[in-house]
Amino acid sequence: MKTKIAQILEEIQSFNAESKETLENFRIKFLSKKGVIPALFADFKQVVAEERKEMGILLNELKDKAQEIFNKEQEKFENQPAATTAIDMSLPGGRFTGSRHPISIVRHEINTIFKQLGFVISEGFEIEDDFHNFSALNFPPDHPARDMQDTFFIHKDPDVALRTHTSSIEVREMEKGKLPIRIIAPGRVFRNEVISARSHCIFHQIEGLYIDKDVSFADLKQTLFYFAKEYFGQETKIRFRPSYFPFTETSAEMDISCNICGGKGCNICKYSGWVEILGCGMCDPNILEACGIDSKQYTGFAFGMGIERITMMKYQISDIRMFFENDIRFLQQFEKS
Ligand code: DAH
Repeated sequence: MKTKIAQILEEIQSFNAESKETLENFRIKFLSKKGVIPALFADFKQVVAEERKEMGILLNELKDKAQEIFNKEQEKFENQPAATTAIDMSLPGGRFTGSRHPISIVRHEINTIFKQLGFVISEGFEIEDDFHNFSALNFPPDHPARDMQDTFFIHKDPDVALRTHTSSIEVREMEKGKLPIRIIAPGRVFRNEVISARSHCIFHQIEGLYIDKDVSFADLKQTLFYFAKEYFGQETKIRFRPSYFPFTETSAEMDISCNICGGKGCNICKYSGWVEILGCGMCDPNILEACGIDSKQYTGFAFGMGIERITMMKYQISDIRMFFENDIRFLQQFEKS
């Protein structure tokens, strides 16, 4: 019996409960009614009289030791919540609390600058008819933009399509017949383009339109110059290149000096020192007339810019698809913007 007690003592002293289950197994094996230690107490009756005193002491010591180890190990699990595989839906969420999408951030910033100049926000429709998206804007019937390849038509109806640009909002505004007009019109636009790092079939534009008596190209230049300096920095330079749009005459594209390299040349400006940011021009008298505005009394200017392009420049994002993937690792970078 003495050796058995010594063996058990050694076993319990090296015990280390890894889980609540192993601790419970320990209790069952050594301390429960059918356990090893109570069994030794039962055997105690057969111990010869001369050894009884010594065995009694050893047995009691063994029992106390086993209980003490059990109590000590149990403490480890006392403050531990019950193990569960289910997800606790009531717990607060992770660290990322959500943020504005970079496109929304930039749209808001651009709107704010034009609002300072007295422009008001106007919104049109994402589904448009031919008149508002093309005809009223002077697009000839055979213009390539009207092609199935470029435009998403609804139910193959040649008269109903997803707007291909926010210029359709200009038409909706002019039709209202309230002059002067000074609007800034942000919105989603759709084009049947192959999706790549540089182009997408859905993107965002901001349109501007100012119609009043005596509006000149000088007003257009000053307005866009103010915007460029406010948004890209006071040292920003602008330049206009002649261009063509069906609804403006004169038409131009505006470049800003690259604010990444300061005009020295980098991969953002393709080593030219300039980055194209918008199209603009004086409203063609035809479009004013198409919307019932007397082009002899009124003149106006318009401009349109892609929000993705400006956002990509601002944050140096090289792939337009990132905006539409909703990858949390991408979005959480704008948490504090
Ligand atoms: N609608 C043109 C586009 O999508 C952009 C544009 C160019 C808008 C010149 C304008 C403008 O208002 O005057 O490419």
